[in-house]
Amino acid sequence: MNILHVDSSILGPHSVSRVLSADIVAQLQKQHPGSQTIYRDLASTAPMHLSGAHIAAWQGTAPTDEALKADIAQGNTALDEVFAADFIVIGAPMYNFTIPTQLKAWIDRLLIAGKSFRYTANGPESLLPPGKKVFVASSRGGAYGPGAPAEKLEHQESYLRSALGFIGLTDITIIRAEGIAMGPEARAAALADAQSNIAALAA
Ligand SMILES: Cc1cc2nc3c(=O)[nH]c(=O)nc-3n(C[C@H](O)[C@H](O)[C@H](O)COP(=O)(O)O)c2cc1C
Repeated sequence: MNILHVDSSILGPHSVSRVLSADIVAQLQKQHPGSQTIYRDLASTAPMHLSGAHIAAWQGTAPTDEALKADIAQGNTALDEVFAADFIVIGAPMYNFTIPTQLKAWIDRLLIAGKSFRYTANGPESLLPPGKKVFVASSRGGAYGPGAPAEKLEHQESYLRSALGFIGLTDITIIRAEGIAMGPEARAAALADAQSNIAALAA
């Protein structure tokens, strides 16, 4: 089994989503001995923002800029890694009501017409092999569940479900720690709750 582990928190050792994504990966490794894990830290090696030069390169204009060349190669690798993965574990904090820009830049490397999906008469169709499972380690300072006053500001988990679902990654399990900014007790309780959900995961 191939596990792809991606983190995007900018908070390093203080990150909640990094703890949870590592716990999920450890659980998967325990359940699937001998599996291979690839780790990508998007906060330390962030993909570039997409530019016109990226689009031109995708359309066949050979890039001359070395940084762009390296970024395009890194983006191709990111997509290859998703194609090869059986399990994709994503550390996804909420920053300003959505995912970190680094994670968005990674997703910008995955949603490529003709590679991960194609448009057909019946609408978009995934080109990824079926059967992949995605685990999202979601962390956020406030509460955004059904009925919460901030419910409509939730564009983090919902965005990930939409964007990943668009390329056929529909088997998504969310492990959530929310209320992280609501005091030390709430933080500890949210973390403990998420960790007990990870312990109960049957992949
Ligand atoms: C730049 C930044 C923006 C944030 N924006 C939000 C937000 O919009 N809503 C929220 O509930 N919490 C917000 N938070 C709190 C984080 O979601 C919370 O600290 C969470 O634990 C972050 O995950 P991490 O610890 O893995 O980085 C923000 C934190 C940072 C650093």
